[in-house]
Amino acid sequence: MGGKVIDFHTHILPGIDDGSRNIDTSCRMLEMAVEQGVEIIIATPHFYASRDRIEHFMEKRECAKAALLEKLRDFPLQLKCGAEVAFFRGISRAEKLHDLTVEGTELLLLEMPFVPWEASDIDEVATLAEERGFHILLAHLERYLDIPGNKRRIEELLELPLHVQINAESLTDWRRRGRLVRMFRDGQAHVLGSDCHSLHRRPPNLAEGRAVLEKKLGREFLERIDKGGCELLGI
Ligand SMILES: [Fe+2]
Repeated sequence: MGGKVIDFHTHILPGIDDGSRNIDTSCRMLEMAVEQGVEIIIATPHFYASRDRIEHFMEKRECAKAALLEKLRDFPLQLKCGAEVAFFRGISRAEKLHDLTVEGTELLLLEMPFVPWEASDIDEVATLAEERGFHILLAHLERYLDIPGNKRRIEELLELPLHVQINAESLTDWRRRGRLVRMFRDGQAHVLGSDCHSLHRRPPNLAEGRAVLEKKLGREFLERIDKGGCELLGI
């Protein structure tokens, strides 16, 4: 059996972060995702430990999810909730982090800082992946590739048992496309996300990224990515 088309990174839940502003926008984003063949959408609102508590975040997320689930009856698509967890010093010791994994999994979408990383940052990710049992999914790794001084840290990170998510939009950028396609080919990138925030600025665009991967690596390779995505979700 083939895999399913999964969007691993979205800000589709209404009114919870800088993504969808209201339920109407979320519904139109869902429509766009369905048109693009998405079968499972993972809602990953931003979580910043410096601004929010996990309990409060979970309450807000449940409300937003309930509102969207009511509308979801009209869509042939499955919704799962997670979070885009911004890395912070001490994250490897944080309690209740499991609440932020994608529902029914140990998968944690981790957003690394947009500044040069310290060796201790990599150690903390290693602790999460190797000692605390999280399946780490690094959000949009391509956004960190050119941070000065980060090259070695990225190599260290990629040696850890974790997975890498790339934004579909980055594959449509001809300057970055070649390098990212090679990362998929070489097993250094694993799944796509739209990282959609609204209808116009960063819209649902998974199909565009998938088209690039299919053109460059072939249909079978894309199916392997879909299967790998299902494995990450344990389905
Ligand atoms: Fe995001």
